[in-house]
Amino acid sequence: MMDAGRHPKVELLTDSEVEEISGFVGNFRARIRRKARYVDEKACTSCGECAKVCPVVVPDEYQQGLSSRRAIYLPFPQAVPSSYALNMSDCLGVRPIACGKCVEVCDKKCIDLDMEDRFLDIEIGTIVVATGLDVYDPRAQDEYGYTRFENVITSMEFERLICAGGPTGGHLIRPSDRKTPKRIGFVQCVGSRAPARAAPYCSNVCCMNTVKDTLLISEHDPDAVSHVFYTDMRAFGKGFEDLYRRSREAGVRYVRGLPGHVKQDPKTGDVRVTVENTLTGDLERYEVDLLVLSVGLVPKKNGGNKVKELLALSSTSDGFLLEAHPKLKPVDAPTRGVYFAGCVEAPKDVKDSVTQASAAAARAGALLAAGRVKIEAITAEIEREGCNFCGRCARVCPYHAITESDKKRGLYPVVIQAACAGCGTCAAECPNDTITMRHFTDLQLLGQVDAILEEKPMEKVVAFACNWCSYAGGDTCGTSRLQYPPSVRLIRTMCSGRVDEDFVWHAFEKGAPLVLVSGCHFSDCHYISAVTWTQQRVEKIWIQMEKLGMRPERLQLDWISAAEGQKFARVMRQMDELLKQITPEEVEQSKKAVAEFLRQKREKLEKRKAKAAEGAGALAAAALEKS
Ligand code: FES
Repeated sequence: MMDAGRHPKVELLTDSEVEEISGFVGNFRARIRRKARYVDEKACTSCGECAKVCPVVVPDEYQQGLSSRRAIYLPFPQAVPSSYALNMSDCLGVRPIACGKCVEVCDKKCIDLDMEDRFLDIEIGTIVVATGLDVYDPRAQDEYGYTRFENVITSMEFERLICAGGPTGGHLIRPSDRKTPKRIGFVQCVGSRAPARAAPYCSNVCCMNTVKDTLLISEHDPDAVSHVFYTDMRAFGKGFEDLYRRSREAGVRYVRGLPGHVKQDPKTGDVRVTVENTLTGDLERYEVDLLVLSVGLVPKKNGGNKVKELLALSSTSDGFLLEAHPKLKPVDAPTRGVYFAGCVEAPKDVKDSVTQASAAAARAGALLAAGRVKIEAITAEIEREGCNFCGRCARVCPYHAITESDKKRGLYPVVIQAACAGCGTCAAECPNDTITMRHFTDLQLLGQVDAILEEKPMEKVVAFACNWCSYAGGDTCGTSRLQYPPSVRLIRTMCSGRVDEDFVWHAFEKGAPLVLVSGCHFSDCHYISAVTWTQQRVEKIWIQMEKLGMRPERLQLDWISAAEGQKFARVMRQMDELLKQITPEEVEQSKKAVAEFLRQKREKLEKRKAKAAEGAGALAAAALEKS
């Protein structure tokens, strides 16, 4: 932090919040709210005289509430900038001034109670998201008595208690009577690996954090005894197994099993822990002076969601932000020019966070140094002719790559080519067919449908497969030498979001007995939320199929990942089975119903286009008149 603060090319904006972000890679614009600190950070010498006279005493968040601070305070000892800050929500009152003692005592006159939030507009080329994490709050899962027993604390609180810069100067004490604990217990996986009650994932750092804490305890007091209650100790990584071995050699007792019952003796303050040792099968009882809950890591709540919305990012089911590709682009966000560093992407320790941050900085630096951005040739293009300013394309674009349209001002939507990732959702959703997807045009895809159904359509399944998962799943199926029925004919699209409902209707009109739309699992779609539009579109078609007297089963939707070669083969076999249940009479009947439905649809489209052309003519005439 200090290095960053001193670096000539780094401008640190502390106490700041991103309010708005617009633009795209190379041309981002951000509006930053610089919150009022009420202290001139350049003039403040951190003498601390203001805090001495401040009458307000509140719990110190940095010390986990184990000590107190004043309303005007130094956030933490190594804070950059090293300047005091006034927390206005704690202050007795500024307008009218109810106290003002800090102002009177400050020699440098650096306290300004009239200071207001300022806004800063900056232009940036790339963005690194490093909004961090929160730790699990054990109050939600109180079986270990965190809210009831004083001597049950979290690993974060333990960290402050044993730290030289902590509230006790590094002297470990227990909260109930301030005695030095001699027997300390650690409960692992609190809030982690508990799919039904808390986070389903492993928090990555808790095991080694506990191992480190047990070693710290034995360094502080060689007579102290530590017990660690665990399900599995995970000591992967350089030097970690060695650390674990040292901890065992130092006499730390590792008990395989999580406590089933915890109780604090009201007289002595000792904590009784009952645990089933899953290695011996015995029910064991332990008495400890202090019980530490090794809490897991959870996605950042405050601020994390806002950044996610501003940058159109998506998250995995556990709430951490989704990278562009887990193996090939682990630090890139799906939005071009945005990178991740640290626990915003997944729980990780300091070393991994630094590694990822370095990689993100290098990626961002390389992009800036290049001075130009290479984009995929597969992007969307909007034709003005026929566009009636409905704005649907801009609403469905997962990348906010389409500008808003405005009929009154004659502003047509425009695709920002540098921001477009080429999913094709806009083209599929445009009700007026005015969007062309380069390399995956309607003509090309409908041509493939026609070619498949040209001969013996009753023996074919038309399957649309997204490039990244389902189609790649087919590759995995092939390389694993698994077989799937030849009746299934694949049509590749970049994303299942590209599958226009007209493609499906066209296939039915041409006599397809069965159509399959397959894409990535919801959290894996390579185009953020494009897959949600696929689902909605297919549901809409199912409803219409029922209205036309067709069995909705003739349109199937499935999610297959690139690694699921076996699933791919299984789904395709199921399609083949389903195909056998569809009769030629049924197909013939539906062909007529669909043809009529499409005729009406086209008629409506023509009318809309004619109306749009009239509107465009009027707009052009008005513009001409103005000029
Ligand atoms: Fe596969 Fe979107 S990329 S469904």
